[in-house]
Amino acid sequence: MRILITGVSGFIGGHLLAASPEQHEVWGTYLENKPSHDPARVLRVDLRDSVSLLAIVDGIKPDIIIHCAAHAKVSFCESSPGVAWEMNSRVTADLAALCEEQEIRLVFMSSDMLFDGIKGQFSEADPPNPLNFYGWTKLGAERRIRDCDGNSVIVRVNLTYGAPLNGGYSFSAEVIDAVKAGKPYHLYADQFRSFISVKNLSQCIWELALSDFTGIIHLGGAEATNRVAFAHKLAERLRLDESLLLATTAEAAAPQIPYPKNNTFDLHLAQKLLKTPLLDLEEGLALEYPV
Ligand SMILES: NC(=O)c1ccc[n+]([C@@H]2O[C@H](COP(=O)([O-])OP(=O)(O)OC[C@H]3O[C@@H](n4cnc5c(N)ncnc54)[C@H](OP(=O)(O)O)[C@@H]3O)[C@@H](O)[C@H]2O)c1
Repeated sequence: MRILITGVSGFIGGHLLAASPEQHEVWGTYLENKPSHDPARVLRVDLRDSVSLLAIVDGIKPDIIIHCAAHAKVSFCESSPGVAWEMNSRVTADLAALCEEQEIRLVFMSSDMLFDGIKGQFSEADPPNPLNFYGWTKLGAERRIRDCDGNSVIVRVNLTYGAPLNGGYSFSAEVIDAVKAGKPYHLYADQFRSFISVKNLSQCIWELALSDFTGIIHLGGAEATNRVAFAHKLAERLRLDESLLLATTAEAAAPQIPYPKNNTFDLHLAQKLLKTPLLDLEEGLALEYPV
C-alpha cells in the first residue's frame, strides 16, 4: 500500500515515518523543517493551500493518509486563533472531504484537550467540552470528519514524551535540555494526563492505520500522573539534578490559558482492540531513554 503521513518534520510524524513498515511505500510532508529521513519520499507542501493539497494527493495516490500536521501548542492556538483554526480545522475538513471522494482511509490525530478535565478517565463515549482554543480546533476537525461518510479513524492522543527525531516540540526533551543546562524548570502539578511514549504511540497508530477499525479511539500510557511526578521519574532515570524541578500550577503560571486539570483516559477500547500493549511509565521511559 501507499501511505502518506503529513507533518513528518514534527515530533509524532517523525517517529511514525521512522517506524514505517517495510512492505509499504510511505511518503511524508513537511513545511519549514526538511527532515533528513528518505528525502526522495518527503515533500514540502503548505497544506493550507488547497491546490497544493490536491496536487500532492493526486500525485501520490495514497491508500491511507495519517494526518499529523497541525499547530499543536496550546499557547500558540490561544494567541493566534485564526491561524490555528485554519490549519487544525479547515485543512482537516478539506482533507476529510478529499479522502471521502477518493476513498482514501484517513487517520487523524486529535487530542485529549477537547475534554474539560473535571472527571478524568475520559472514554470515547464522554461528551467533549474544550476549555481552550486548541481543544476547539480539534473538536471542529473531528466534527467535519464525522460529517463525511469516509473510512476514518480519529485517534485522540494524550501527552506524548520522548526524543524528537526530525524536530517538533517534546515536553520531556524540554525538561532534559533545561536541567542539563543547569536551569530551573517549572512544572504544573495541577495537570494529570495519561503520558504515552512516542515509540509506543507510533506502534499503536501503525497498527490502527493498517486495521479496518473506524471511529474514535483514545491512546495514552497505562499509568496516569502529573507533570511534576513525571519529570522526577525522568530525571531519576537519567540521573539529572532533581533540585532544578520546581512545582507550580498552570492556574498560577499561565492564568490566561484555561488548562484542563485531569484529562486522563479510559483506555479499555485500545487495550481490547490492539495487539500493541500500552506501556506504563517505567516501561515507556525505558523504551524512550535506554541507559
Ligand atoms: N505531542 C503531543 O503530546 C500531542 C498530544 C495530543 C495530540 N497531538 C497531535 O498530534 C499531531 C502531531 O503533533 P506533534 O507534537 O508531532 O506536532 P509538532 O511537532 O508541532 O509538528 C507539527 C507538524 O505540522 C507541520 N505543519 C504545521 N503547519 C503546516 C502547514 N501549514 N502545512 C504543512 N505542514 C504544517 C509542521 O511542519 P514544519 O515543522 O516542517 O513546519 C510539523 O511537521 C498534531 O495533530 C497534534 O495536535 C500531539
